[in-house]
Amino acid sequence: MNPVRIAPSVISADFSYLRGDLARVEQGGPDMFHVDIMDGHFVPNITFGPAMVKTIKSLTKLPLDVHLMLSKPRKFVTAFVEAGAANITFHVECDDKILTALDEVRNYDCKVGLAVKPKTPLSAIKEYLGHLDRVLVMTVEPGFGGQKFMPDMMAKVELAAAWRNEGGFKYDIEVDGGLDNYTIWPAVRAGAEVIVAGTSIFSQADAAQAIKDLRENARLALRHLEPGYVPDDPED
Ligand code: DX5
Ligand code: ZN
Repeated sequence: MNPVRIAPSVISADFSYLRGDLARVEQGGPDMFHVDIMDGHFVPNITFGPAMVKTIKSLTKLPLDVHLMLSKPRKFVTAFVEAGAANITFHVECDDKILTALDEVRNYDCKVGLAVKPKTPLSAIKEYLGHLDRVLVMTVEPGFGGQKFMPDMMAKVELAAAWRNEGGFKYDIEVDGGLDNYTIWPAVRAGAEVIVAGTSIFSQADAAQAIKDLRENARLALRHLEPGYVPDDPED
């Protein structure tokens, strides 16, 4: 299994040609599709509802990684589970009771994660770590695709990895926003394992090559950790 998983973000798909565009990207062998749900209140944009997630589910064999940017995610947990989410991640900054919402997702056969916006310290999720399958560190202000990666967020990724080690937690670490062949380097070196990428995959004519390049850059960025690795150059 690939240590780093690639999650193309459907927000960047060509909706006039959704079936074909998803198939084109799926052929490149990503690990899941990332689906951004925005309510126009938690973030200044609106995207998809459960019916659209159900449609996307019918167009792909890949698991759907559903990212809820909703002020009140609890209201929609059942609908997104029924629509086919493999995992649901909502924001710690939402208005709902976090533990109640986590339990509700868990009660279905659905993995659950918590996301943090750039301005939120990671300490906001510390008390929930034992309940999580995934920690999502936003690397852009949520709301839109095509924004610039925020390298300062890598301190949070490192901290999430350190807390997992210290506490024996099981969550994986996902980064979302502005990931490409360059920014994947600091991301995976900090400990990110699930890479959400919208623009850098869907905007490429050869999406399979884009996914391959992301995987190769992740491998190169981590190759110093491979057993028996010897740098070519002592300065490397
Ligand atoms: C931002 C979304 C991301 C983002 C990814 O609110 O959660 O999934 O759109 O798109 P790119 O890779 O274009 O930043
Ligand atoms: Zn997202």
